[in-house]
Amino acid sequence: MQRKKVKIEDIAGKIVTELPKGILLTTKTEDKVNTMTIGWGTVGVEWNKPVFAAYIREGRFTRRQLEENPVFTVNIPAERTPEIQKVIGFCGSHSGRTEDKISGAGLTLVDSEQIAAPAVKEFPITLECRVVFTQRQELSEIDPKFGNFYPQDVDSSATGANKDAHIAYYGEIVDAYMLED
Ligand SMILES: Cc1cc2nc3c(=O)[nH]c(=O)nc-3n(C[C@H](O)[C@H](O)[C@H](O)COP(=O)(O)O)c2cc1C
Repeated sequence: MQRKKVKIEDIAGKIVTELPKGILLTTKTEDKVNTMTIGWGTVGVEWNKPVFAAYIREGRFTRRQLEENPVFTVNIPAERTPEIQKVIGFCGSHSGRTEDKISGAGLTLVDSEQIAAPAVKEFPITLECRVVFTQRQELSEIDPKFGNFYPQDVDSSATGANKDAHIAYYGEIVDAYMLED
């Protein structure tokens, strides 16, 4: 598998366009590689470094993964096919806590260049990120108009919207490329 390096500024628009349709965030610990669907994220600059911030609810298994090994890849599809959308649906409604989602979704892992968490062949546009800042988003400091994102009568183990706050994980983007055959 080849890697064609890409500039963040050249793919930032693509990432912002693809996010609302769902992309993947992949983590790795000694026990497990896991991937989850994310729809929220921010690409930008802080500390003079390119940064991708992901927003992960407190109850997600992915949070446990990031606490144990604070690195992740962001995996963006080149094309939005029905197969890709099926993976997005699966990885956004099943938890790595109880399942092996990589085999469940039929994904092929590819070793990363700089970090332990792998890239995903089927989602070839890749950011390798090292967490440099973590911050729980205090619900009382969020505009009340977004209260519907945090229903307090829904169990926090639910896979969709629930009462949990998000934790912002700011990852320094240490590599960015497109996987090619
Ligand atoms: C389109 C879509 C976007 C999503 N975006 C996010 C997100 O940005 N943050 C989040 O915490 N959960 C998000 N989810 C929900 C998680 O993907 C879902 O809860 C998943 O099962 C968590 O996996 P895990 O338990 O293996 O970490 C999204 C789900 C879908 C379908």
